[in-house]
Formats: sequence, structure tokens, C-alpha cells
Amino acid sequence: MNLTPLLLSLHVLSAVIWVGGMFFAHQCLRPVAASLLEPPARLGQWVGVFGRFFPWVWASVIVLPVSGYTLLFSLFGSMGDAPLYVHLMNGIGLLMIVIYLFVYFVPYQKLKDAVATQIWPEGAAQLARIRFLVGVNLNLGLIVIAIASGGRYLG
Ligand code: HEM
Repeated sequence: MNLTPLLLSLHVLSAVIWVGGMFFAHQCLRPVAASLLEPPARLGQWVGVFGRFFPWVWASVIVLPVSGYTLLFSLFGSMGDAPLYVHLMNGIGLLMIVIYLFVYFVPYQKLKDAVATQIWPEGAAQLARIRFLVGVNLNLGLIVIAIASGGRYLG
């Protein structure tokens, strides 16, 4: 059975959900929340938003490498025979996953604690770390998608 169509579809859908979600949160929701909401409402809103978004990111950071490596070995046979754009996708993709794991296990947990105990300056500091790291991952994600989709035509 040829699993390539299914795996490639799952792979790209995961990338769309993860990177598209970061784009909306970082570029659209964040500036409006920052201008309209006071810290207690704003920080509480972000805990709620992340609580809904991060389960989808968990699914993406599992599906992307599992489908990606399966595709890599079925399409190219070995790591050494894979083209440059796939190596770049692999390397940058793994970096994105490490950054996400750090965000989830360090500043996000501290943000939740700060909101639960109503220590707003601490919450704001953790949210600023998350904002910076999500901005980095958003840029990496857009670069990976450009490389993954256009890269094969560069020769
Ligand atoms: C984590 C390790 C990853 C591996 C091993 C991997 C591997 C692959 C492979 C082998 C393909 C098929 C290439 C081809 O058909 O020529 C592919 C396609 C693709 N990958 Fe990845 N990938 C990874 C992560 C990512 C990430 C993080 C993103 C985006 C955020 C991404 C976005 C894409 C896209 C958009 C395509 C479709 C390209 C197209 O068919 O036009 N990949 N990936």
C-alpha cells in the first residue's frame, strides 16, 4: 500500500496548523490584546489561548517528524541520499521542536503559576519570553515551508 499521499497530507496539514496558528497569535491577536486588555485579563486570556492551541502543537510536533522521516526513507532511501532542501527542513524542523518544548515546559508553566497566584509582573515577564520564542519559531516555520515547497526546484 502506498502511504506517501496520506503521510504527505498529514505532514503539510500539521505544518499549516502549527505555523498558521503562530502567525495568527503573534501577528493578529497579540497586538490587539496588548492594546485593549489590562494585565490580569490579558495574561488570563493567553493562558486560555495556549491551553487550546498547545494540544494541536503537540500533535504537530509528533506527526511532523514521524511522517517526515517515514517519507524521507521511502522517497530517498537513506539520509545521505536526501536532497539539501530535506536536510534543511529536518535541521530547522528539529530546532523548532526543541524551542516549542522549551516554551511549553519552562515559560508556559511559569506563566500559568503566575496567573494562578496573581503575580502579574512575573506573568508579564514569562509572556514576553513566550512572545519572543514564538516569534523565532514563526520565522523558522515560514522559512521551512518556503524551503520545503520551493527548494526542490532550485536544482
Ligand atoms: C522534523 C523533521 C522533518 C522531516 C524529516 C521532514 C521531511 C520531509 C520530506 C521527506 C518531505 C517530502 C519531500 C518531497 O516530496 O520531495 C517533506 C515535505 C514537506 N515538509 Fe517536511 N520534514 C520535517 C519537518 C517539517 C516542518 C517542521 C515543516 C514546516 C513547519 C515541514 C514542511 C513541509 C512541507 C510544506 C512539505 C511539502 C513540500 C511539497 O510537497 O511541496 N516539514 N518533509
